[in-house]
Amino acid sequence: MELMTAVKERRSVRKYEERPVPHEVIEEIIEAARYAPSWKNTQVPGYVLVESPELKEKISSGEYSFGFTYNRKALINAPQIMILTYKKGISGFEKDGSFSTPKGAFWEAFDCGSAAQTFCLLAHERGIGTVIQGYFDDAKLAELLELPEGVSVGAVIPMGYIGEENKAPRRKDVSELLNYK
Ligand SMILES: Cc1cc2nc3c(=O)[nH]c(=O)nc-3n(C[C@H](O)[C@H](O)[C@H](O)COP(=O)(O)O)c2cc1C
Repeated sequence: MELMTAVKERRSVRKYEERPVPHEVIEEIIEAARYAPSWKNTQVPGYVLVESPELKEKISSGEYSFGFTYNRKALINAPQIMILTYKKGISGFEKDGSFSTPKGAFWEAFDCGSAAQTFCLLAHERGIGTVIQGYFDDAKLAELLELPEGVSVGAVIPMGYIGEENKAPRRKDVSELLNYK
């Protein structure tokens, strides 16, 4: 798939086919997604694929998303949920633990964004729909998934083969986005 097509046609998908995405396909995606840029190549993002029905049910219960019920449908419907994680205190930090820039811990989230978009585009190229969800209780989810100390959740991404075609929500015009000085 052309990069331009992938970028323009990737949509947030909230309905999926029942069949799970095979592990080989997931691994192929991560193999390429690891080339996403990161602060000083610190590569803090990681991936946890949730497939167990018990864990899926808990994550979909609303208990882990501050009761934001809109997200439940996609979580329940998705055969798999990719949890994008990151190691805290490295990206955007100096070795002594101080912030590298006045933007503080901003860069670790930035790296998660870069990883998430790369992951979602690669998934789209394979007919796999994803939706990045920002409503999640980081601490509770980390505990449920038994994430190691110092690892946090960057995004919750329900995923599966595309079960609905969505129209692109309106985008701003180039003239609104781009300035020259
Ligand atoms: C950081 C971030 C958080 C988001 N959180 C949610 C969410 O909690 N639930 C949801 O359904 N979509 C969520 N989205 C998806 C956006 O609503 C979606 O990207 C936007 O409406 C544009 O639509 P498109 O992705 O189909 O182009 C999120 C996207 C981003 C980047």
